[in-house]
Amino acid sequence: MSLDWIEPAERIKTLPTYVFAHLDELKAKALAQGQDLIDLGMGNPGGPTPKPVVDAAIAALQDANNHGYPPFAGTTSFRQGITDWYRRRYDVLLNPETEALPLLGSKEGLTHLAMAYVNPGDFVLVPSPAYPAHFRGPMLAGGKVYNIILKPENNWLIDLKDIPDTIAEQAKILYFNYPSNPTAATAPREFFQDIVAFARKHEIILVHDLCYAELAFDGYQPTSLLEIPGAKDIGVEFHTLSKTYNMAGWRVGFVVGNSHIIKGLGTLKTNLDYGLFSVLQVAGEAALQMPDKYLHQVQELYRTRRDFLIQGFSQLGWDVPKTKATMYLWIKCPPGMSSIEFVLDVLQKTGVVLTPGNAFGDGGEGYVRVSLIKDCDCLGEVIQRFKQAGICYKSEVGVY
Ligand SMILES: Cc1ncc(COP(=O)(O)O)c(C=O)c1O
Repeated sequence: MSLDWIEPAERIKTLPTYVFAHLDELKAKALAQGQDLIDLGMGNPGGPTPKPVVDAAIAALQDANNHGYPPFAGTTSFRQGITDWYRRRYDVLLNPETEALPLLGSKEGLTHLAMAYVNPGDFVLVPSPAYPAHFRGPMLAGGKVYNIILKPENNWLIDLKDIPDTIAEQAKILYFNYPSNPTAATAPREFFQDIVAFARKHEIILVHDLCYAELAFDGYQPTSLLEIPGAKDIGVEFHTLSKTYNMAGWRVGFVVGNSHIIKGLGTLKTNLDYGLFSVLQVAGEAALQMPDKYLHQVQELYRTRRDFLIQGFSQLGWDVPKTKATMYLWIKCPPGMSSIEFVLDVLQKTGVVLTPGNAFGDGGEGYVRVSLIKDCDCLGEVIQRFKQAGICYKSEVGVY
């Protein structure tokens, strides 16, 4: 019996297709046509989770005490592990009871935060381009997303002057993310000070997503929101173990910051889930104790790939600025091509999967995101295939 006549709820029907799901369909089609795919689409780190983390998880799994429902708000030990890490890393003191909450991956928390705080019709300020959960969460909650269009001439930094006072006055939340997915842009500390002052002035919840806290190069150290005086009065920061520790499949993240905001999110979550499997919390604790040597190895890995690919793209006519952080390059489509047209062209001609910039909002149109998730041999093959297929960046003055 077909149930086609049963309509999904408006909040699902009106959402644009999740681009990564659409990309999966395109990839399946290309595979069925015999394409040998190289997937640089998703930010899914390829390496193994560090052995001490896996070992800690195996030992925890053998302990039957970990097999029941975990505490809703996370184990005391993991919450303490989070705030200890935060103190070591940023020299900021947090209360593990009220100012840290483990999440089933940060995407879950970023989305549910909007459900916890946004009423239908409330304004939510979101940069465009942005990580999709930053605008899809507010959309699911029935909020009105006000796009702050980011511009290359401003190095993809939010220009707070672009937000009209009348909108700022009505806004409930402002999401932001530096180092940025997808643009790989970073923000100076002064920017963090300005945005905290802005949020305090307009009484807006400030949500910073520090997904790429550790994936930074050449001595650059990303700023944490909570390092800024006054930030904790209005803000929270989301973290994930997915990228730094190759733990994307494990689904471990956490939020730190303002206790009132965290409490609201926690209340919503007690109605949705039972908290993070205790075994994963043990693993999370082990990850946060990994030595600096491990972090340096990860940073070196992505830095090497960044340099290799920037050099490869430069042979094809692209002038890609040296990124200071993240696992992405953000490159312009050849003139006259939209993001989708370019992604499809590259996929058909080379089997290489890229992410169209408009997947991150209208502000990403005209760009594609390239993930640095393969080793240099494979990235060399990508450049080779581009060359063979004649794919290059053409400027108005001709082919470079
Ligand atoms: C900016 C940003 N935030 C959050 C996430 C999701 O991370 P998690 O695996 O913790 O859900 C990603 C994943 O790509 C991301 O790029």
